[in-house]
Amino acid sequence: MRSLKIFLLIVLGVAMAIVLLFNRQFNSKNIEEKSGRTETITSNTLWQAPVESLLHKEPNAEEILYGKELIKNTSLYLGKKGSVKAISNGMNCQNCHLEAGTKAWGNNYAAVYSTYPKFRERSGAIETISKRVNDCIERSLNGEALDTNSKEMLAIISYIKWLGSGLKKGEKPNGSGIIELPFLDREASPKKGKIVYESKCQSCHQPNGEGILNSDQKSYTFPPLWGAHSYNSGAGLYRLSRFAGYVKANMPLGASYSAPLLTDEEAWDVAAFVNTQKRPSKNINKDWPNLAGKPIDHPFGPFTDGFSEKQHKLGPFEPIKIKRAEMKKNKTT
Ligand code: HEC
Ligand code: HEC
Repeated sequence: MRSLKIFLLIVLGVAMAIVLLFNRQFNSKNIEEKSGRTETITSNTLWQAPVESLLHKEPNAEEILYGKELIKNTSLYLGKKGSVKAISNGMNCQNCHLEAGTKAWGNNYAAVYSTYPKFRERSGAIETISKRVNDCIERSLNGEALDTNSKEMLAIISYIKWLGSGLKKGEKPNGSGIIELPFLDREASPKKGKIVYESKCQSCHQPNGEGILNSDQKSYTFPPLWGAHSYNSGAGLYRLSRFAGYVKANMPLGASYSAPLLTDEEAWDVAAFVNTQKRPSKNINKDWPNLAGKPIDHPFGPFTDGFSEKQHKLGPFEPIKIKRAEMKKNKTT
């Protein structure tokens, strides 16, 4: 009798383990299918940055640490009252690349060194790391590019290189960058997003979206989400999927990939609300020389797929994705 009970318990245990395993695989596959994620994820465990206590072994440890400092406290060096050069809007790289670019799904730099230089549709050219860093300075920090050979650029690159050490060329570990959220089957709603903003964001980012400067007035305690000091219309976060994926795994402050605080709908809707507020604009006439290479959620025409700017900005995105796939197929057959 007793051994029968034990036997049944074991069978039950094994069955539960199998169910859990399948469920997990199904979920991740499902997300991939819905979002059309194309990169290959190499492992199930989330990427972790190299340990800083081993840094002293690097011949250029000091340079790497200066690079990290520039990522964390960009505004002190390159902001409006920056000690090196006043060339950016007062935000820090770390405001968007959390924990100095080391947080899993926190828009980290895990796969930068392993995947650059690479071709990017936005410029229609092969981009180096310094070009990509300057992209963020000109767009996310609404500023002016750094000299490619400046001490600051070289330090940032050394830090990014160190973070990616241990990865093979082309490798993109699980947890790098920003998650791809499944699309909503409707247009994202600025109106619903406003309600989310008021209850879950504005206590820190403020009712006018402009954030709060800290006491030295040089950097932000809570960074701006729109207005004159925020990222401009050419920035990555201005694309709805980037914003929604970033906030889903990271906001309100304290959220993480494994412990999110927003539903997918809330993330898309709050993205729609924030990205329909006023912000600096950027002349992006030279971007996307190949029109068919524009991301689905790039909100500025012209497009080759026949959908409106509005649908490219707020969705629904699935019909665009389907149409694009058809166009591609017709081209190749
Ligand atoms: C307002 C938010 C914001 C700020 C501030 C910001 N970035 Fe970014 N950055 C982004 C977004 C969004 C992306 C694109 C991520 C994606 O496409 O998945 C990105 C991408 C990058 C990438 C390429 C990542 C990859 O894996 O391809 C690098 C490198 C980078 N940023 C460096 C910097 C540096 C250095 C700074 C500071 C000088 C900075 N960023 C400031 C939002 C920001
Ligand atoms: C408890 C305070 C707090 C709340 C609430 C909060 N944030 Fe943030 N948010 C921050 C801080 C602090 C940062 C910068 C993180 C850093 O530098 O380490 C940030 C950064 C950001 C960024 C990237 C930087 C920028 O300014 O563009 C976005 C986007 C963002 N938050 C969106 C949101 C949204 C949307 C909500 C509501 C769903 C929200 N946040 C709720 C504190 C908060």
